[in-house]
Amino acid sequence: MDISKPDTTDACADKTSPFLEFNSSIPESGLVLAWLTRDNTKPLRPVQGSALHTRFGSFQHSSMISSKYGTQLASSSSTQAGFIYLLHPTPELWSLSLPHRTQIVYTPDASYIVQRLRIRPGSKVIEAGTGSASFTHALARTVAKNGRIWTFEFHEPRFEMAKKEIEDHGLDSVVKCSHGDVCVNGFIPACDEILDASAVFLDLPSPWLAIPHLKTVVSKEKIVRICCFSPCMEQVQRTIESLQKEGWLDIEMVEVSCKRWEARKEMIRKPQDAIERLRDIKRRRNEGLKKRNERKLAEEQNDEAVSEAQENSAATPAEKHVPDKPFLPSEYNPWGKGKRVHEGEDGYEWKEVSKVEAELKSHTSYLTFAYLPPPVQGKDGSIGSE
Ligand SMILES: C[S@@+](CC[C@H](N)C(=O)[O-])C[C@H]1O[C@@H](n2cnc3c(N)ncnc32)[C@H](O)[C@@H]1O
Repeated sequence: MDISKPDTTDACADKTSPFLEFNSSIPESGLVLAWLTRDNTKPLRPVQGSALHTRFGSFQHSSMISSKYGTQLASSSSTQAGFIYLLHPTPELWSLSLPHRTQIVYTPDASYIVQRLRIRPGSKVIEAGTGSASFTHALARTVAKNGRIWTFEFHEPRFEMAKKEIEDHGLDSVVKCSHGDVCVNGFIPACDEILDASAVFLDLPSPWLAIPHLKTVVSKEKIVRICCFSPCMEQVQRTIESLQKEGWLDIEMVEVSCKRWEARKEMIRKPQDAIERLRDIKRRRNEGLKKRNERKLAEEQNDEAVSEAQENSAATPAEKHVPDKPFLPSEYNPWGKGKRVHEGEDGYEWKEVSKVEAELKSHTSYLTFAYLPPPVQGKDGSIGSE
């Protein structure tokens, strides 16, 4: 396909979408997100006679059909007693399970961008590039059903995959996918529609090249808001220069940094525990020294002398190493080695604490926001800029 011209196929079908409507039970061939672990969610469409094979066991599609979304399904394998959850599609879960074609926008950034751009039901939004269409799903759910997303992608296989996925998910009445280079040709949609977007999201390597093309395709009546998503500061600088040149105002850069806080228990430790810990260290050090000296001695003496020394040591138990203080099982040393106490276990004192959980998925980029006021209308009706 020639990417200098946009593709002109426009698939507009008014069908239901699992991302826009909630079904309580799973229809045959309906989209299910099978949750295996926190980092592993698999999209599937259950059909009779098929199964999902995982390291937690096999799961028959027939057991999924007509089950309630949210069901915990046990493995049908006799040897693996694992289970999965059958979840209803949402843009948030989709971003964790979609087939990655590119880096994607994750929920923490997506939700912040949507509210900063004031995107709501009925909004009209321009997006480039489509990439893996992760953010496109979040946008579609927000603007549906009367809004519009015009999304642009210049990489043909990615464009084709996104378009098919959007159609498969029943979102093609809201999302219009176009194939083209927005930095070179601007925002020429595949569908026969006039773009009058009030929000723009650019996740491109060179947004500053696309920004000058926006003026002709954004709303002339409303304030237009933009967000450019860039991983490098140099990109941010060039984007800001371009936004300033094109008359965008209130330019601001934000980074979304996510931390999840967890309620946990922490063991209460007493001064006696610290003393026990020091004793434990001393005892282990003495044991180590003793063993090392014995090894050295054994190396220096001949076999006969070694066995003699061993006989002597067996004959004189007083010379044998005796730990400074034997460890009594009733005396718990919370810092001692080799002892595993489970959080909250009975028999110890605990206090409630909150801790940060480090790994919440979010690809952090710098978000550059700005807005463009509508052009000023002269008394004679002519349009100029402020
Ligand atoms: C990081 S990805 C976008 C990911 C997307 N926001 C998501 O959440 O899945 C950037 C995409 O922009 C596309 N792209 C880069 N330059 C472009 C251009 N000038 N015109 C259209 N698409 C472009 C790339 O092919 C790539 O797929």
